[in-house]
Amino acid sequence: MPVPAHKWSMKESLKMDDEQFILWQALLEDRTGMQISAQRKSFLETSLAIRMREVGLQDYDAYYEKLMSGLTGEVEWATLVDRLTVQETSFFRHTSSFELVHNYCDTRLKDGATSVDVWSVGCSTGEEPYSLAMMLNGLTEEYPGKYWGITATDISLPALSKARQGIYSKRKLDLMSDEYKARYFSDVPESRKVQVNRELKDRICFAQVNVLELESAPMAGLDVIFCQNLLIYFRRWRKRDIVTHLAERLAPGGLMVLGIGEVLDWSHPDMERVPYENTLAFARRNG
Ligand SMILES: C[S@@+](CC[C@H](N)C(=O)[O-])C[C@H]1O[C@@H](n2cnc3c(N)ncnc32)[C@H](O)[C@@H]1O
Repeated sequence: MPVPAHKWSMKESLKMDDEQFILWQALLEDRTGMQISAQRKSFLETSLAIRMREVGLQDYDAYYEKLMSGLTGEVEWATLVDRLTVQETSFFRHTSSFELVHNYCDTRLKDGATSVDVWSVGCSTGEEPYSLAMMLNGLTEEYPGKYWGITATDISLPALSKARQGIYSKRKLDLMSDEYKARYFSDVPESRKVQVNRELKDRICFAQVNVLELESAPMAGLDVIFCQNLLIYFRRWRKRDIVTHLAERLAPGGLMVLGIGEVLDWSHPDMERVPYENTLAFARRNG
């Protein structure tokens, strides 16, 4: 039954009992891979409480029921998952990984490849794929007739929608080169925002992909798979499983870049570690 907003303030955030916490932890891990530790229980309580208030519910069990109820539940889940995932990101996050991709793609193009195809996995609101796009656009200009393509995926539809819009506060561009700012962004009138130019935006394919369901993702034969700051929230066995699935989507010689320290004990007979400073990357053996 809907609760009038004035009757329930966030300060009285609802307490979740142990049984409820276990149920919510299991739901999230089962659907997204994300583990919510006991230390993050209050984050879960607050995020759920905010959403429950928006939909007029004041009981975790009733909200859980809503999420389980057919199509309405699926629609509600799409909103909730966005609230519960960590979407922090920035342009050119972790410079060494970008340098590695640049050098790798340069060599690949020099060696005769006609294009480089890149997959940004867990792209959040788009800063990562746009950074890759700016870099690859500059690089391929040095090789007339050669192309780049980027597919950028995430579980969160709201994050993907922001990524497709490509509108960011100017502050987010503070550390970006003036050349990139001038070439790829335009001011949004009467705001402190900028918008990514069509030239770049239209060349990225954004799509929803849950990394727990990679069997149904059509990507294959990729030159680069870029997956940073997503697997940190997952159990070790699950990380290894996902990284194995990702590796299988690489073209021979393809490169997989992960976040440093995100996967510690993984190996694959077709993959070898790339010894590039301050990165965690593997390349698929040729043949
Ligand atoms: C912290 S952001 C990282 C963004 C970017 N890769 C970076 O390094 O800046 C993590 C992203 O992973 C996404 N994510 C979480 N679970 C996911 C899943 N099971 N499948 C696909 N994406 C997921 C979140 O929605 C979020 O946008």
